[in-house]
Amino acid sequence: MSDWKMLCRVQDIPKLGARRVTRKVGGDVAIFRTADDKVFALLDKCPHKGGPLSQGIVFGESVACPLHNWTIGFGDGCAAAPDVGCVQKFSVLVEGDTVSLDLNELNAPDAVASEPEGVGAKMNAAA
Ligand code: FES
Repeated sequence: MSDWKMLCRVQDIPKLGARRVTRKVGGDVAIFRTADDKVFALLDKCPHKGGPLSQGIVFGESVACPLHNWTIGFGDGCAAAPDVGCVQKFSVLVEGDTVSLDLNELNAPDAVASEPEGVGAKMNAAA
């Protein structure tokens, strides 16, 4: 059974943008919002060379990495062909306008508090 951690409201995530959840271990998690308000979460690390996907451009149900423009799909966390590679995907629960992530997947009860930064604002998973 999942232990969900409420992180924010859907409207706290920029439409066609992302926020980041910082973790002490395992790397940050990027939470994306599509044009039709679907929410997805991926490790904030492009499978190519580690670019910050939270700083990428969201279109459809994908994000274009800001470094070399690989397209990473939200459904499977994998790069669109001809590129090859996948990034960790995280389960997202949206209830009403509340966005939660699976605490077991986050595995970061001691996440680091941080301030908004750049295009993708950060959040604290340990709120
Ligand atoms: S690091 Fe993302 S496309 Fe190269």
